[in-house]
Amino acid sequence: MYSMRTFLFIGIFLSIVTINFPAHSQTKQYPKSFLWGAAFSAHQTEGVTGGGENGDWYQFEHPATENSPIANGDNADLSIDHWNRYEDDLQAAKSTGLNTIRISLSWEKIEPQPGIFNSEVMAHYKTVLKRMRELGLRPMISLHHFTHPIWFNQNGGWLSAQSPEYFARYAQYVAQNLSDVCGLWMTFNDPMGFIHLAYVNGEIPPHKKGLSNGFEAAFNTVRAHRLAVYAFHKARSTNNVGVAYGFKLFDPFDLKNEQDVRAAKELSEISNWAWLRATETGHLEFRYTQPGIIWDKQIIFQRNILTSEMILHAKIDWLGVNFYDHSLVRGTTKPIPFELINTQGLEGDNGSTLAPQALEKITRLVAKHFNYPLIITESGLADSDDSRRPDFIRRNLYALDRLRNGSELGDPIDVRGYYHWSLMDSFEWLNGYKYRFGLFEIQYGNNLKRVPRYSAQVYLEEITKRSPPRY
Ligand code: BGC
Repeated sequence: MYSMRTFLFIGIFLSIVTINFPAHSQTKQYPKSFLWGAAFSAHQTEGVTGGGENGDWYQFEHPATENSPIANGDNADLSIDHWNRYEDDLQAAKSTGLNTIRISLSWEKIEPQPGIFNSEVMAHYKTVLKRMRELGLRPMISLHHFTHPIWFNQNGGWLSAQSPEYFARYAQYVAQNLSDVCGLWMTFNDPMGFIHLAYVNGEIPPHKKGLSNGFEAAFNTVRAHRLAVYAFHKARSTNNVGVAYGFKLFDPFDLKNEQDVRAAKELSEISNWAWLRATETGHLEFRYTQPGIIWDKQIIFQRNILTSEMILHAKIDWLGVNFYDHSLVRGTTKPIPFELINTQGLEGDNGSTLAPQALEKITRLVAKHFNYPLIITESGLADSDDSRRPDFIRRNLYALDRLRNGSELGDPIDVRGYYHWSLMDSFEWLNGYKYRFGLFEIQYGNNLKRVPRYSAQVYLEEITKRSPPRY
């Protein structure tokens, strides 16, 4: 007897082998303004120079005992030394045909003590941003990419009702100081992914495990996001502000099983839509069903942002799609009633899998839920020998063509940019330097030499097809 799962896998397998990249190609030329980029973040690349010791991840990577929570006991003290070698990295981006780079700022370096800002650090960022612009690389900056100043966590982190104001103070300072050299901003990178790891399961700083902590942190980051959007628009009306949201594609494991269907829907609601919807409506709600023997129980967390705060005009200009995860969901009777099973498709060294149409499907779903121009702010694959990444890039850009031109899955979607994760190999959080996401290999044993992978050439070729050089 073949199980439903076997049929599902055969189906997915068939769709993999029949996918081809048409010779005539749907590739139309892209507008000049289309953003072709690669992304990375401050803590993952810069190294501690400039004050990284003031951050929660520095603390986490240097435990008092020898038991490091990070793979191989790695830390980001030097990482790829982007702080000092930024010129090499910008040149690398240029040689790959990019017209934009996505970075993040280190909050702990900028504001090492509450309300005390480091002007030298800001001067450094300004120099780097100016250089980017000279090279024709439009900067896109994220204010928050997982790390915090130590003082912020000591004051309660995202569980504190004051946390949105702390974040807004930092946002205002940055907006006032850098809006002349950057116009493309995002408040958070993958807020719910961060909250899941740091609050719901407590694996990363500040380790406040618990569902209700997760809800509290989500609520405060929604408020923080709104205040930061407002600060950026106020500092310069031309500031283009968004958020890079980590979307996940959840399909029911068995389409005929009611529990699986419900679990996939509820998980998608909490993970993908609730936080963003709250940024618009002010009402945050997490709701899921806990199946019981006699009756099912509804678990609900909900709260409203105060009307006085909602008065602020905090509408984003665009929405960023980070996408890595496609899973099948099984409903269970456990306290957290979701179980995730990998789908079949291109597999990363870290076990992530992506079915061929996943990027197109999730982006279409996002466009159904929210009416903003979209930018693919991250998609990438851990692939140390670069054996699958070239194909991954081709498939993703084929999906991009289908999104922009329309396909049998739906009408054209307004997607304005694509950022590969990542430009270079870098510090992969709990996994240290174990996984390699870069278009450029970093030779850690060879003075951090940057070596282009074949993927960088493929990305350049794919970009050139869509945006040939113009006069
Ligand atoms: C994060 C990156 C990370 C990447 C690959 C993304 O969700 O934003 O910081 O390096 O996943 O693990």
